[in-house]
Amino acid sequence: MNYTILVNKNNLLSSDFVPEDLVTTDNNENNFHNYRDPNFKPMICASILPYFKTMQQAALNAGLKEIIVDSGYRPYEYQKVVFDRFVDEVGYEEACKKVALPGSSEHQTGLAFDIAYMKNGEYQEKTSDEDPEIIWLKENSYKYGFILRYPLGKEKITGYSYERWHYRFVGIELATTLYEEGLTLEEYYERLKGQPLVRKTKED
Ligand code: DAL
Ligand code: ZN
Repeated sequence: MNYTILVNKNNLLSSDFVPEDLVTTDNNENNFHNYRDPNFKPMICASILPYFKTMQQAALNAGLKEIIVDSGYRPYEYQKVVFDRFVDEVGYEEACKKVALPGSSEHQTGLAFDIAYMKNGEYQEKTSDEDPEIIWLKENSYKYGFILRYPLGKEKITGYSYERWHYRFVGIELATTLYEEGLTLEEYYERLKGQPLVRKTKED
């Protein structure tokens, strides 16, 4: 899997694209609200699971709640179900700001997921910007290779409303660059078209 792949409204995956190395995350017994199927467990690419687990443990070590994968890989067909549900709820235009059309969702790559929490064995879907976990993830996830994919203030660039819960694996090197430069993946690729992006060093 190409960890730096750009998937968005202009860069689509084919309908038959399925990542090769999907694995169920073993830390969530309660997530089926997204799938209406109690047997469905969230999946992500197996190769990024160790990075996720390391980040999850680091959060626990920092005294935070257990961060879990709530909605991970979504098949093309399922993304359509999610999108159509939103259209019913908020209309087409609003749905387009919140949910990707099938083929344009990072969830189809297995590299992206929405987070929730477990606390004392209880599943907690609701998150808030004031949660220490949300603040910690924003400032520390890059160390484990993850980026907040749809940040506040970048809605026009990403094409989506701010999503505090949606994280994407891009590898530690690129995640660090994006964090340090304050760039979205879209801005990074735009900049690459112009000139090579030079990583800032401590000496600069
Ligand atoms: N909510 C994000 C944009 C997705 O549906 O992939
Ligand atoms: Zn998401």
